[in-house]
Amino acid sequence: MRIKTSAPGKLMLFGEHAVVYNRPCIVTAVSSRIQVAIEQTPGRFKIDAPQVKDVRFVEETIRVFKNKFKTGNGLSIKTQSDFSYQYGFGSSSAVTVATILAMSKLYHLNLSLKNIFSLGYQVALNIQGVGSGFDIAAATYGGTIYFLTGGKKIEPVPVKNINLVIGYSGVKADTPKIVKSLKLKVSPKGRSSYGRKNQKSKYVKIFNQITEIVEDAKKKLVNKNWQRVGKLMNYNHQLLQKLEVSTEKLDKMCQAAVGAGAYGAKLSGAGGGDCMISLVSKDKRNLLEQAIEKAGGQIINVDNNAEGVKTEN
Ligand code: MEV
Repeated sequence: MRIKTSAPGKLMLFGEHAVVYNRPCIVTAVSSRIQVAIEQTPGRFKIDAPQVKDVRFVEETIRVFKNKFKTGNGLSIKTQSDFSYQYGFGSSSAVTVATILAMSKLYHLNLSLKNIFSLGYQVALNIQGVGSGFDIAAATYGGTIYFLTGGKKIEPVPVKNINLVIGYSGVKADTPKIVKSLKLKVSPKGRSSYGRKNQKSKYVKIFNQITEIVEDAKKKLVNKNWQRVGKLMNYNHQLLQKLEVSTEKLDKMCQAAVGAGAYGAKLSGAGGGDCMISLVSKDKRNLLEQAIEKAGGQIINVDNNAEGVKTEN
């Protein structure tokens, strides 16, 4: 029997980094997906995942299943992606979640979405050691969700496709590295206890301000108050600049978008590269795309608020 599944990539809308420190964020699933096909091949184990950046996510998922459910050895796994892993759309999380659903179907385990999220988060932590799990949640549940660190809260935000223009900076960000280096700044080693406290309170203040933005954005997205949502994106970007995770290129692309009439713009994800997002009214879309391209960005055309993990025919 051959099982085929797929899971979506994601875009962080609000709250990146703060969500690692027990704060909420808002993430949306994108229409670009990763497909996984699995069949049992007794005695043989093969993974064919040419576009997956880090095949360890698939291997670790299989290992976790073997430990937990005593699943068999012989498997052939093939993956296919609609998008380049370079965009920072969460290809590792999507492939992990799609593999988990495929294994659940193959071995008739009937795992719930909650089970799929928990297993996926475990796999991600086993490999990366850091991360809030928001990307695993987006791949699992889909839609647009309000998410609290580790999945303590996962609530749908009832919106339709949000009118975003997405620009890729041309640089692949190393998310775990950026998260770890911010962690060192938030809790520096080798300083006096006064110095550590002082440093920490600076970041606590920024994370609290980001939380206020996330809470406000959650309401304004539902009310379709795009002017306000755009403003909140700008504020969120300024706070990410204070965290020193933005880059000149991302700043330039965001400025270009706002200059061309976007409601607002911000980097999306860890920073250091990957993508920026801007919110726009339909009539200004072309202008905005041109402005972002002029600033050196590449426009990525995907819809958001997409379906979560599912079985394919
Ligand atoms: C990275 O896309 C988003 C971060 O908040 C990390 C995480 O939540 O795992 C920086």
